[in-house]
Amino acid sequence: MIGIFDSGIGGVTVFKEILGELPNYEYVYYSDSKNNPYGDKFSDELIKITDSIVSYLVQMGCCVIVIACNTASAICKDYLRRKYDIPIIAIEPAYKMVNDINKDGKTLVLATKGTLQSSKFKCLYNKYDNHNTILYECVGLADLIENDNDEEIDKYLDNHLKDFKGVENVVLGCTHYPLIKDKIKKVLGDVLFFDGSKGVCLQLKKIIQKNNIKSTNSSITFIDSSLSEEKEKRFFDILKP
Ligand code: DGL
Repeated sequence: MIGIFDSGIGGVTVFKEILGELPNYEYVYYSDSKNNPYGDKFSDELIKITDSIVSYLVQMGCCVIVIACNTASAICKDYLRRKYDIPIIAIEPAYKMVNDINKDGKTLVLATKGTLQSSKFKCLYNKYDNHNTILYECVGLADLIENDNDEEIDKYLDNHLKDFKGVENVVLGCTHYPLIKDKIKKVLGDVLFFDGSKGVCLQLKKIIQKNNIKSTNSSITFIDSSLSEEKEKRFFDILKP
């Protein structure tokens, strides 16, 4: 079984990509909406939270874990990889992809405070810095997306992003943000989007091959830490082709 988790519904954007490429496996998706948002939490607290999620998923029988959350990946992946003896795949903001595809374009990186202030992100940024990049902490945005608060999201984007009109590349450094691509386009125009889900998918494929992971069944189990049926419905709606 393959375990995937995020602070809520956001990781579904990663899971959708995975399902498209690797449909015939058993998956369990853990949406930790009880602890949402992760983006402003202290590292110690976030490590504790993600440790208990991974432990739970391992007890359920997961043999690979995907951290479908940029914040948890940046802050917790080293700890979790040291502690657990199974492959742990971690997403990261797709800043390297900008370097590969449109290096010189004016770039806006949107992510949580936790991600942008992490040493992991700083390393990535210093390595691929195109000297034409704005880093922007979207405090509160993931929360609005989690709560599907359409009107507030529009207001937020209008207030926070309109000064960045003219950027070419937008790195969606939080797994919740791909859910509002259309809204971002309304404010910023026809930009190129970059997100880390393709990279995660490639890594997962490699791990499956390397560890010869086979599956007799294909299934999707959804667990929400606040037992929200509404989240479950939204999750499966987003997964629909
Ligand atoms: N979806 C998460 C991320 O990729 C976390 C958002 C949050 O809970 O603040 O960073």
